Amino acid sequence: MSFNDNTLSVVVGGTSGIGAAVARALSLRPGRVEIASRASGLDIADSAAVSDYFRKLGPLDHLVVTAGSSAPGGTVVDVDLDAARAAFDVKFWGSVALARAASGYLRPGGTITFTSGFLARRAVPGTFVKTAMNAALEATAKILARELAPLRVNVVSPGLTQTEAYHGMTAEARDAMFDRAAATLPAGRTGRSDDIARGYLFAIDNPFVTGSVIDIEGGALIS
Ligand SMILES: NC(=O)c1ccc[n+]([C@@H]2O[C@H](COP(=O)([O-])OP(=O)(O)OC[C@H]3O[C@@H](n4cnc5c(N)ncnc54)[C@H](OP(=O)(O)O)[C@@H]3O)[C@@H](O)[C@H]2O)c1
Repeated sequence: MSFNDNTLSVVVGGTSGIGAAVARALSLRPGRVEIASRASGLDIADSAAVSDYFRKLGPLDHLVVTAGSSAPGGTVVDVDLDAARAAFDVKFWGSVALARAASGYLRPGGTITFTSGFLARRAVPGTFVKTAMNAALEATAKILARELAPLRVNVVSPGLTQTEAYHGMTAEARDAMFDRAAATLPAGRTGRSDDIARGYLFAIDNPFVTGSVIDIEGGALIS
């Protein structure tokens, strides 16, 4: 669907990192872009608040979800299960709540684009929460794409991308992690938010794309 002055796009998670890059790109087009996150008063783990948000917002055209980047590391045997459940509550159940609440308000031609991550399809010891959460989201998006058709539902799956999500690490540890990844990835570098944002625009713009997982990961899945 082409953009016009009435087009409304909502980016949940748009206050930071990849979501902010998507919001920037969409704001160069006609229409309006709404950004939401806890900073703007919306916690997607609160499904009543999510319903309320869309009731107040009314009809929309495109929903992009990038919210919820944190998940505890640890093996299946020793991971902190409370933290694991809390991560699922935000990224997985929060995404489901957003889709449920927005579905009744999406105009014909509308889209939903979720975010998973390359670990959804990699078996790396110690990362099971991210793997399980993102794999569940990819599977759910494919079912939603059939249930909500002809609305289109897709997923962008980023690889390691330099965003505020890593600001909790020391600069030294962060740089070392990015350098290691750049040295091993076929693309020879880590991702930037703008690289990943292009995937959401592709999903929104191409009317023949639905139920797809768009990998933008520098070749992580082939290395
Ligand atoms: N960066 C990477 O290397 C990478 C790799 C693979 C996958 N991903 C995925 O890409 C997505 C975006 O990651 P990012 O790196 O851009 O992360 P980020 O910079 O940390 O941004 C996360 C966004 O989510 C919002 N958020 C967090 N919890 C929320 C909640 N409960 N309710 C509403 N909003 C919430 C944050 O805003 P508030 O704090 O204001 O709520 C922020 O806007 C995530 O799903 C992440 O798992 C990222």
